[in-house]
Amino acid sequence: MWWSGISIIVVTFVAAIVLMSTILILNRKTNAITTTTKILRTGISEKYYKSSFRMMTYNIRFDTDRDGINQWAFRKDRVANLIRYHAADLFGVQEALPNQMFDLKNALPGFEWYGAGRDDGKNKGEFSAVFYRSERFELLDKNTFWLSETPERPGIKGWDADVTRVCSWVKLRDRYTHQILYHFNTHFDHIGEIARRESAHLIVDRIYNITKFQAPVILTGDFNTGPDSDPYRAIIANSSLEDAKDLTEIPHYGPNSTWSTFFVGQDLGDRIDYIFVTSHYLRVLQHAVLTDSDAQHYPSDHFPVLAELSIKSQTHIN
Ligand SMILES: *[C@@H]1O[C@H](CO)[C@@H](O)[C@H](O)[C@H]1NC(C)=O
Ligand SMILES: *[C@@H]1O[C@H](CO)[C@@H](O)[C@H](O)[C@H]1NC(C)=O
Ligand SMILES: *[C@@H]1O[C@H](CO)[C@@H](O)[C@H](O)[C@H]1NC(C)=O
Repeated sequence: MWWSGISIIVVTFVAAIVLMSTILILNRKTNAITTTTKILRTGISEKYYKSSFRMMTYNIRFDTDRDGINQWAFRKDRVANLIRYHAADLFGVQEALPNQMFDLKNALPGFEWYGAGRDDGKNKGEFSAVFYRSERFELLDKNTFWLSETPERPGIKGWDADVTRVCSWVKLRDRYTHQILYHFNTHFDHIGEIARRESAHLIVDRIYNITKFQAPVILTGDFNTGPDSDPYRAIIANSSLEDAKDLTEIPHYGPNSTWSTFFVGQDLGDRIDYIFVTSHYLRVLQHAVLTDSDAQHYPSDHFPVLAELSIKSQTHIN
């Protein structure tokens, strides 16, 4: 009969629709579960993590036998393991002596670094060096300047500083997003108050001159100064840089303090290590001060500060 032909077509049609909807719904459900897990874990949806990268600033404490049980030889594996475990793609270290640079490079295959010994601009004295995962970042440019009245001259102390201080920086291309970014890394003087204030002005000036703030800029370091201080205010007020801790989308994790003393259980010190970023180009997904310890010892007398960053918008690509 002619209507049974139509019935078969209708039944087949309805069955096909039911089947397709079921497949669609199941599929959606699977996706939803994956996404939900990620959101539950982080509070931020997966898509912002796709192109994000993790960065750190870490004063690793220079190698000295005055440190006894906390001397570098006994903790170098902990420092490297911490950096590896927390999966930093880009990090700045402070106080790294040439032998410590050598150890870090050896312990962290896949990383390249740039820095200059502060005493001679080559291989003498502490480095404020930048390490970057070379599979992720390509080095385009680099340089070091001294925190002094003569920034181009290696080994010169500035103002009332106790020792020579430097800022080393890199211009990188992110191989994932093809974006350009700059990372400046420094260590301010621990004694000279004028030196810290002038260093902040100098760095802000230099960053402006080098980047014009037309690309994402990250400034990390041990600034030897709290958030309620002139140098901190000079950085925040006179540049496009902001404190990553104030921008983080998942609330800050860990103590405010970044001064560990090495010994678990002792009172922590001030917050003096920071990650500053330009918020118009960078989102801060996470921000933490990491207190990992081992047998009652922290791996350094500072805690590392970690941030997960995601580049917001297209910036110029050259
Ligand atoms: C930055 O550039 C301006 C204009 O070229 C110059 O006057 C100033 O001295 C520069 N500052 C630094 C720190 O290089
Ligand atoms: C910002 O820079 C100007 C000019 O160098 C300076 O006079 C002012 O004190 C700076 N602001 C802060 C908060 O340091
Ligand atoms: C950390 O600093 C914030 C302000 O930035 C403050 O609200 C909070 O109470 C501080 N936490 C601790 C443990 O001191």
